[in-house]
Amino acid sequence: GHEKEQGEFVLALDEGTTSCRAILFDRQGRAAASAQQEFVSGFPQAGWVEQDADEIWRTQLKVMREAASGVSAAQISAIGITNQRETLVVWDPETGEPLHQAIVWQCRRTSAMCESLKADGWEAEVRARTGLVLDPYFSGTKLKWLLDEVPGLREKAEAGRAIAGTIDSWLIWKLTEGAVHATDVSNASRTMLFNIHTLAWDEEILAKLGIPAAMLPEVKPSSGIFGYTRLLDGDGGAADSEGQAGEGGSRGIPIAGVAGDQQAALFGQGCYESGMAKNTYGTGCFLLTNTGEAPIASEKGLLTTIAWQMDGRTTYALEGSVFTAGSVVQWLRDGLGLITHASESESIAASVADTLGVYIVPAFTGLGTPYWNAEARGMITGLTRGATSAHLVRAALESIAYQTADVLGTMEAESGLRLKELRVDGGAVANSLLMQFQADLLGVSVIRPVMLETTALGAAFLAGLGVGFWSGTDELRALWEHDRTFVPERDEAWRASVYSGWQKAVGYQL
Ligand code: G3P
Repeated sequence: GHEKEQGEFVLALDEGTTSCRAILFDRQGRAAASAQQEFVSGFPQAGWVEQDADEIWRTQLKVMREAASGVSAAQISAIGITNQRETLVVWDPETGEPLHQAIVWQCRRTSAMCESLKADGWEAEVRARTGLVLDPYFSGTKLKWLLDEVPGLREKAEAGRAIAGTIDSWLIWKLTEGAVHATDVSNASRTMLFNIHTLAWDEEILAKLGIPAAMLPEVKPSSGIFGYTRLLDGDGGAADSEGQAGEGGSRGIPIAGVAGDQQAALFGQGCYESGMAKNTYGTGCFLLTNTGEAPIASEKGLLTTIAWQMDGRTTYALEGSVFTAGSVVQWLRDGLGLITHASESESIAASVADTLGVYIVPAFTGLGTPYWNAEARGMITGLTRGATSAHLVRAALESIAYQTADVLGTMEAESGLRLKELRVDGGAVANSLLMQFQADLLGVSVIRPVMLETTALGAAFLAGLGVGFWSGTDELRALWEHDRTFVPERDEAWRASVYSGWQKAVGYQL
């Protein structure tokens, strides 16, 4: 029993792979204000991806202040944080300076390290302890790489002069001006350093990778107070007339909910019960099924992960991860120059009836579920003289749906359940052509909610529950609104034919 919180809004910070967003939600879960800004990634070598942690922070702070500019700090009951997962930052706790570029989840630089860990017999250990596949995707080997490669970093870490964390930890630390070094269980479960059964950093894995435990953040439940921020006080942001931060008085606004973006989207989609699933179409594509209080081990390439922890209960999920989804549209724009705006992709794809047998396999940073092939790379197959840029654009969009079909097939094979409908969210689901193709390909109804920014909404929900702004999941369930259902229109023969073409194309990279 919390007392009913009196503020009017919850502010969600959504730090994604390609942009920072901040959305101010009211009690109905509607966006009252929002701000968004893209930032850049660096690709210093083939398959490597890094970002500037300071730029991420400055961008996030700017959009946070922008979204909150029309209200006073006293009107904001809580802040929720959600983030691109696995991306790793190492920084100096005295100065607050990053000690290297952040290594992004997509980065393949630890591919050889993962192979040698497998050769040492660690694959089964990692799976049993962390629920994950031994792949460069996760933070653990990224941290080992930094400790091995950055001169003096290991000595600094051992002396307490270098600390580490995923993006949530970095933002919490910055927002609390160095007072709190923490993460939540959902983010911790993506590091490959966290034991999802004992809910603690795994000492054997830390020892094997040579990572000092003191570098790592404290792990907390996903809903509840992490710390307070005063950075919305005073100039440039929301503040009440005394320049004080409302409810928390001089303590500032509570950061009361934290979750990895995919887990936050599961929460924002109202998937509170075991068996409920969602698919988020962002930079990548991530399909998560709530499996309740049981961690279900996967044998077919799904990940066992923590969805969230609240009120003393831990909820688990099975996840299928696709590394390149919305970013293939970005590549059409920035890499190939075939479109000038992402939104054009729909009308250009609709100008042709099909891809004329062209398939794009966007394995730019390897393949995730179910293949787990870090060395696979992108390819275009089936080109004939009649193929045009419109066919390529359509093939790029369809590749997002095919990869989702691979994941859903794995999820069904593993669970023995047949999904009747799929809840979707994320930027790319505004593309109705893609959603109709997705429904046709899966033979499953695809349900699009009104609120597509489900990731941010989920973070707001966790934070709001953490301070008693909302009373519980029953109240939240009523806020979920349906926009449109895409019903499958094609038959089984069509599905089998186009999907076998995809499987053949992917097969060339395996
Ligand atoms: O695991 C990576 C994931 O969290 C990235 O999400 O939304 O940036 O594709 P997104």
